[in-house]
Amino acid sequence: SAADPAGADLSGRHVVVSAGGTREYLDPVRFLGNRSSGRQGYALARAALARGARVTLVAANVDLPAPAGAHVVPVETTAELHAAVVAAAAEADAVVMAAAPADFRPAAYSDDKIKKRADGSAAPVELEQNADILADVAHDRRRPGQVVVGFAAETGDAHSTVLELGRAKLARKGCDLLVVNDVRGGAVFGSTDNEAVVLGADGSALEVPRAAKGVLAHAIWDRVATLW
Ligand code: CTP
Ligand code: CA
Repeated sequence: SAADPAGADLSGRHVVVSAGGTREYLDPVRFLGNRSSGRQGYALARAALARGARVTLVAANVDLPAPAGAHVVPVETTAELHAAVVAAAAEADAVVMAAAPADFRPAAYSDDKIKKRADGSAAPVELEQNADILADVAHDRRRPGQVVVGFAAETGDAHSTVLELGRAKLARKGCDLLVVNDVRGGAVFGSTDNEAVVLGADGSALEVPRAAKGVLAHAIWDRVATLW
């Protein structure tokens, strides 16, 4: 439990954690990306290792030291992340999608570095939607009792609160738990702290107040262990 993180309550379990942000290349040097640092995913991996789990960490462009004992699978694009997570999920008791996949990729890739135009106009970039890795894993459980966890960084708006958006996303994805952050202002990105609400498909909601990302990580593994 969180009170006894040095215990080995996850021993015998294999967990897959994805971390970081994917890159979608336009040409050999340019990509579309996002602001995910990988810190929350790495904290999840360290917490699971400390509690005795075997950990596969699928890392998308993360610039952090590898947690000792984790099996790290480096990836760059959402297509690579998808393939690596689906492969690892075949033998996993839990899959936690802490990574931020790019929702779109350029429809075309240029082998040649794209050049500026003589008339000063900008070339339009056409986008295609990427596959939804979390929804795929949640709808095709590869092992009985496998627990699937997603993350959602949301900003509330005039129509819906962050938690309403989170509930709808949990249902849409078909996952067991969804860790919802309010990211208005952008304070969470690159930070060592996090605060969140862990929503459950069973209707539960666990509030985790602002603290080091390791505290949220242990709270998530507590919820996963309860579902096992
Ligand atoms: N996710 C995924 N594959 C994608 C996009 C998202 O597996 N192509 C996962 C993320 O890793 C995260 C969860 O889905 O765990 C929610 O991500 P989010 O970006 O909030 O969901 P989207 O369905 O992309 O919704 P939105 O339009 O709000 O971005
Ligand atoms: Ca998205």
